[in-house]
Amino acid sequence: MAEKSKILIIGATGCIGKYVVEASAKVGHPTFAFVRESTLNFNPVEAKLVDHFKSIGVTILHGDLYCHESLVNAIKQVDVVISTLGAMELADQVFIITAIKEVVNIKRFFPSEFGMDVDKVNAVEPIKSMFAEKAQIRRAIEAEGIPYTYVSCDSFVSFLLPTLVYLEPGATAPPRDKILILGDGNVKAVFNEERDIATYTIKAVDDPRTLNKTLYIKPPKNTLSFNELVAMWEKMIGKTVEKIYIPEKQILKDIKTSPVPINILLALNHTTFVKGDQTSFEIDPLFRVEASELYPDVKYTTVEEYLGRFV
Ligand SMILES: *[C@@H]1O[C@H](CO)[C@@H](O)[C@H](O)[C@H]1NC(C)=O
Ligand SMILES: *[C@@H]1O[C@H](CO)[C@@H](O)[C@H](O)[C@H]1NC(C)=O
Repeated sequence: MAEKSKILIIGATGCIGKYVVEASAKVGHPTFAFVRESTLNFNPVEAKLVDHFKSIGVTILHGDLYCHESLVNAIKQVDVVISTLGAMELADQVFIITAIKEVVNIKRFFPSEFGMDVDKVNAVEPIKSMFAEKAQIRRAIEAEGIPYTYVSCDSFVSFLLPTLVYLEPGATAPPRDKILILGDGNVKAVFNEERDIATYTIKAVDDPRTLNKTLYIKPPKNTLSFNELVAMWEKMIGKTVEKIYIPEKQILKDIKTSPVPINILLALNHTTFVKGDQTSFEIDPLFRVEASELYPDVKYTTVEEYLGRFV
């Protein structure tokens, strides 16, 4: 077997980044985390995370997305770059693209995706523009001729399932009396655990089958409609709950009248649970592959196992 690629993670202390760093180190990739020095001085949680990275053998490279030289120096040391930058920095990934072009020999770039397939969505604002930024980065990568993989993992379980999507302030488990259901509850969405998303991402790094493709993470057991989720929950708690369906018209109105960031979450919920944008298309094998099919050896956490923790 060929040697494992050296991997740089940019956005390493972020909500998916930290899992990608762990997954990479765990299977023995020489792993490099790109970290802003100021992060360590001002954020004790991130400073602790960086200590944890060091303890599992990760090399910390200090730098800044907005300092070209530091980016180039970091990228020079690796074969593969994975960006897990957050929403505010998506558009600025053009700086990574410029640096990768300068370094030349990068085997693969994973831009920050880790959500829905932005070429397939029917989202409304304000999510529409955010998705457009990700799509622009895809087009820039393709135009520059950089080898890539786009990881499309749909929803993170920890954002949605602990409260079955509707977040009551202070809630730590799904409701047992009444549940609000977006739309008619029949379109299917996909829910994945962050650790599994990271595991699949790292598996794709040296896999020629994922080169220049979108890697979908859509395990069949984690692809469920809202109604199916609620039925699963009812069975677990041995009780039926009252279901209140919120029509699309109401949701669209709420998006328009809600402040940031509520409107963003509402618009995300709309594309996921009303439009069904995570499951409304076929996977074209020429450009796309599915992770649970490629890597049947990964024992991913199912929605049922995850929900079961809250009974
Ligand atoms: C992947 O894309 C890069 C950049 O466009 C290209 O050089 C390479 O030949 C492509 N590889 C495959 C297997 O499609
Ligand atoms: C929308 O989704 C978010 C998670 O992305 C969830 O926390 C929130 O409660 C949902 N809100 C509504 C009003 O549907």
